[in-house]
Amino acid sequence: MNPSRINAEEQRLAVESEQASKRQFLKQVLWGAGAAYLFAPLYAVWRYVVSPAERKVPIAPMPIAENVLQSRTSVLVRFGDKNVLVRRETDNTLRAFDLRCTHAGCTVEWRDSEGKFVCPCHGAEFRADGSVAKLPATAPLEELTILKEHEKFVLLDKRKIP
Ligand code: FES
Repeated sequence: MNPSRINAEEQRLAVESEQASKRQFLKQVLWGAGAAYLFAPLYAVWRYVVSPAERKVPIAPMPIAENVLQSRTSVLVRFGDKNVLVRRETDNTLRAFDLRCTHAGCTVEWRDSEGKFVCPCHGAEFRADGSVAKLPATAPLEELTILKEHEKFVLLDKRKIP
């Protein structure tokens, strides 16, 4: 066979091989995009149906710097993956609430002047004790436990306590 014809044949095979691998890559990208398109709504439904409280894992105890609270009525702290409001009550006790809305997981705001938590996403409201004041949330905010140990306050995840 003519060497230039062999070279041309090799080039043609190389080009075909490159085109085949591009087609294969494109197929994989399209399958991935299709799968994401199909499963994204299912994930959204799962997020909506399964309460955030059921997906949480316990968090190690965390000390609270009491001096942070001495001149304020409330303070926001990060506790594991939670945004927590620690509030000094009128009787000088401390209470802590996970700010994750029990409806669909948005972060609620504490309105000190109104004495309630309000969710900006769908309008749920919670009383100062975390109980539901207005739908669509149906479960109270998670209250975390605060213990005083050796003159220091410690924030606990209730699931750590037997
Ligand atoms: S996430 Fe709070 S009311 Fe829907």
